[in-house]
Amino acid sequence: MDTWNWNIENEDFLQKTMKRCRERNILLPTFNQLKHPDTIPDSIQQKLAAIGLNETHPLNLFRINWRNDVKTGKIGGINYVELPSALTGVKARIIGICGKYFPTGAHKVGATYGCLIPNLVSGKFNPEYHKAVWPSTGNYCRGGIFNSALLGVHGVAILPEEMSKERFEWLRSYGAEIYATYGCESNVKEIYDKCHELETESDKYYIFNQFAQFGNMVWHHEVTGTTLEHLFNQVKGEKSRVAGYVSATGSAGTIGAGDYLKKVFPTMKIVASEALQCPTILMNGYGAHRIEGIGDKHIPWIHNTKNTDCVAAIDDADPLHLLRAFNLPEGHKFLSKLGVDATTLDRIQDLGISSIGNMLSAVKMAKYYEMTEDDVILTVFTDSLEMYRSRLEEMDTEFGPYNEHQAEVDWRTCVERQSYDNFKEMTYYEKKAVHNLKYFTWVEQQGKDVAELNRQWYDDQYWLEKVASVPQWDAMIADFNAKTGVTI
Ligand SMILES: Cc1ncc(COP(=O)(O)O)c(C=O)c1O
Repeated sequence: MDTWNWNIENEDFLQKTMKRCRERNILLPTFNQLKHPDTIPDSIQQKLAAIGLNETHPLNLFRINWRNDVKTGKIGGINYVELPSALTGVKARIIGICGKYFPTGAHKVGATYGCLIPNLVSGKFNPEYHKAVWPSTGNYCRGGIFNSALLGVHGVAILPEEMSKERFEWLRSYGAEIYATYGCESNVKEIYDKCHELETESDKYYIFNQFAQFGNMVWHHEVTGTTLEHLFNQVKGEKSRVAGYVSATGSAGTIGAGDYLKKVFPTMKIVASEALQCPTILMNGYGAHRIEGIGDKHIPWIHNTKNTDCVAAIDDADPLHLLRAFNLPEGHKFLSKLGVDATTLDRIQDLGISSIGNMLSAVKMAKYYEMTEDDVILTVFTDSLEMYRSRLEEMDTEFGPYNEHQAEVDWRTCVERQSYDNFKEMTYYEKKAVHNLKYFTWVEQQGKDVAELNRQWYDDQYWLEKVASVPQWDAMIADFNAKTGVTI
């Protein structure tokens, strides 16, 4: 079913969804409100002040944006960190927005909302019958389970068995039905297999496939893209220019913000970050890796590959070692001697494993293009240490307790000596080779239409149409809210 189409699929389902939202006092934010959170009515912002960030409270849907002020509980400034040259070793300014301040502590809850909305307001999902299935490599299913709890819907999480134990504990605490599929981060095919198995078992299972549903990419295009544009305008100097946008590609939702940014800053380049141990974009490679959240071994359906200019592959050991340096006191002692200021030391704890991977890809980009202090590289720090404390314990066991000397070794090898090896500026045909990989996953395995695949490559309108329909969705959300009659 094409979920990004606003024809009402089933009037009865739509009425049931409205009833559910009425009973639970659920008001749905529009894309525009999440893009411009200062337009969220004051009556809602006042109430948010008394609601915890991770409470399953319906008003927390309004917190699915990058501007939650955790001190006041209201909408504040953009949550971001600028990494100084003392830390990155490059002159270019590397600036990332922080996912830690979303409900669930990760930006992926945005993708879940983007996928949920079209299904709710066009009567495709029946809350009284369907079980909401969230296939994921970690944070997406946590976001999905959070939304399911809000709606009082039975939530199902599918994720690889090797994901961190914190993720499984979190899911259990929300009462999710959990399927741990074979393998690690890059075993996405096994996740799809499980989805098909459940669908065959019962039509109750309703799959919110983030790798194929455009609500994911569009949410980032609108909300993440606009936020990064505003951030640049907020921090730019006289000669600053947006030189690049770096994003890891798991489901390829987040990289969709690059499509927005490139319309505003046409000379910039979009860089896809992936793990060197599974270099799918770099060299059609495969393998297991440990950068949790970024999947791979296939190209998601929603990835506009023609618009991705470069790929950077990061050795997964690097972000893991730096996770220690960025979060442990011994690491901070060394970084402080290096000249990293106290505020930055505090803020780098907002960077989880894939966030550090994005930082390192930005370092590669800055070195490859010989960037100066006028160049700004925008990126996304998707989640924080919160889901990876057990990884620190594992490294203590494997390498012994951390110390200042080890922090210096880690910084020198993983940051200072990070070079532009495994960084590729892609030619037209190298991009096409990435696009072509979609055929095997999506047409051969997942039943997509080859004509649509061809449109993705040959017809620019294809991607423009996806985002052009946002005002229509917003109108449907407003109409839905008016009909439920929920007011705050
Ligand atoms: C920690 C983390 N980083 C990066 C990503 C990749 O984002 P996307 O799926 O939008 O490509 C994810 C996705 O789940 C994630 O959980």
